[in-house]
Amino acid sequence: MPQLAKRMGRAKPSAIMVVAETAKRLKAEGRDIISFSIGVPNFLPGDHVYAAARKALDADSGQYGSNRGAEGLLDAFIGHLDGLGLAGYTRANCATGVGATHILYNLAEALLDEGDGFAFATPYWTSYLDIAEIVGADVQLLPCPPEQVYKLTPAQLDAALAKKPKLFLFNNPSNPTGMVYTKDEIAALAEVIARHPDTWIITDDIYNSMVFDGVGYHNFVHVRPELRDRVIFVDSLSKTYGMPGWRVGLMAGPEVVAQAVTTMNSNHITSLPEVVAAAAAAALSGPQDVPAARCAEFQAKRDQVVAALNAIPGVVCPVPQGAFYAFPDVSCAFGKSHSGKVINNDVELCAALLEAKGVACVPGSAFGEPRGMRISYTCPTPQLAPGLARIQEFFAELA
Ligand SMILES: Cc1ncc(COP(=O)(O)O)c(C=O)c1O
Repeated sequence: MPQLAKRMGRAKPSAIMVVAETAKRLKAEGRDIISFSIGVPNFLPGDHVYAAARKALDADSGQYGSNRGAEGLLDAFIGHLDGLGLAGYTRANCATGVGATHILYNLAEALLDEGDGFAFATPYWTSYLDIAEIVGADVQLLPCPPEQVYKLTPAQLDAALAKKPKLFLFNNPSNPTGMVYTKDEIAALAEVIARHPDTWIITDDIYNSMVFDGVGYHNFVHVRPELRDRVIFVDSLSKTYGMPGWRVGLMAGPEVVAQAVTTMNSNHITSLPEVVAAAAAAALSGPQDVPAARCAEFQAKRDQVVAALNAIPGVVCPVPQGAFYAFPDVSCAFGKSHSGKVINNDVELCAALLEAKGVACVPGSAFGEPRGMRISYTCPTPQLAPGLARIQEFFAELA
C-alpha cells in the first residue's frame, strides 16, 4: 500500500478537540458534564449580521470571489483596524482566510522554508506547534512559566531573536493563559524587536476586543510604527462576534505578505463564500454592542473563576486580563491520589476530574506547560458556579 507523506507523521489532531469529544460522548451517554474545554464563545452575533447574510443570499451571484477577499469585507476590516488605532492600511495590505487558523497556516507556508527558525512562547495555542511541525520549521520555544505570570520578558525575547529565527509569533491576549501585555510591556518588547531586523513578527491578536480592567489592547505597531514593514497582524471573527462556525480570519501587514497569503488562497480555497463575506463585513462595521456586552460578562466570570481557583490550597492562578481562559498551576495535585488512584501529571488530573466530577478541562501539556490546566469559562452562566464547586471538591478530596 502506498504511504502517506512524511509530514503526516508530524501532524496531529488538536488535543483540545480530543477532550471536547470525550466530554460530548460522556454527555451523550447520559453523564452530567460541565465543559470548560473548548474555546467557543457560546453566543451568537447581532441581528444585523444575519440580515446582511440574508440580503447577500438574495443577491447571490453564485460565482467564485476574490482570492484576497471581497472588497466590502476588506474595507470593513480596514475600518476595524482604524478603530484599533492601526490606521493607514489599504486593501493591498490585507487578506482574508478560512479563520485565523488558515491565515496562520498560510503565513507559515509563505514565510518559512523547511528548517527555518520559528520562535514563540510557551504556553502556546496548540495549533502553533502543530503548524510549525507540519511545515518542518525549527521550533524555538520560549518558556514563560507561572512564576513570570506566563509573560515573555524583553531579555528572553532579545536572546531568542539574537538567534535570528525567520519568524516570531506573539499572542496577545493569550490563549491559554488570558494574559494581556500592558502598553509599557509591549513598548519594551517592541524596542527589542526593532534591534533585530531579520525576523518576521506575527501578532495573533484575535482576542483584541476582549480585554478587561481597562488595560487596553496594544500592538508593537502602536508604539513603533516603523515595525509595520515586518509585523503581520492577525484577527478573526470567531471569538469577538460569536462566529466561530462562519470561519473568517483576516490579516494586515506588508503588501508582499498579504499578496503571498492571497496566492496561497488562490491555490487552497479560491475565496470565501459571498454570504459569509457579507455577514463578516456587517459584523466588523456594524454596531459593536454584542462584543462589548460579552466582554463585560467575561470579566465578571473571570472574577468568579479566579476567586474559586485561588481559594484552593496549593493552586495558583495568575489573574487573566483578557480572552476567556484561566490557566491555573495545578501541579500541587501531582503525586496525590483521588478515589485511590495516583495522579502523576496534568493528563491524569484532567481525566480523573472528568471521571469523578464530570468537569472537562484541557491538560496544560497540550499548550506546552504541563503544570497547568486550561479552563475556558464561556459556559452558560448557571453552569459556572457548580463547575467551579466541583473542581474545589475534587481538590479537597485529594489524599
Ligand atoms: C490564539 C488563537 N489564534 C487563532 C485561533 C483560531 O481562530 P479561528 O477560529 O479564526 O480559526 C484561536 C482559536 O481558538 C486562538 O485561540
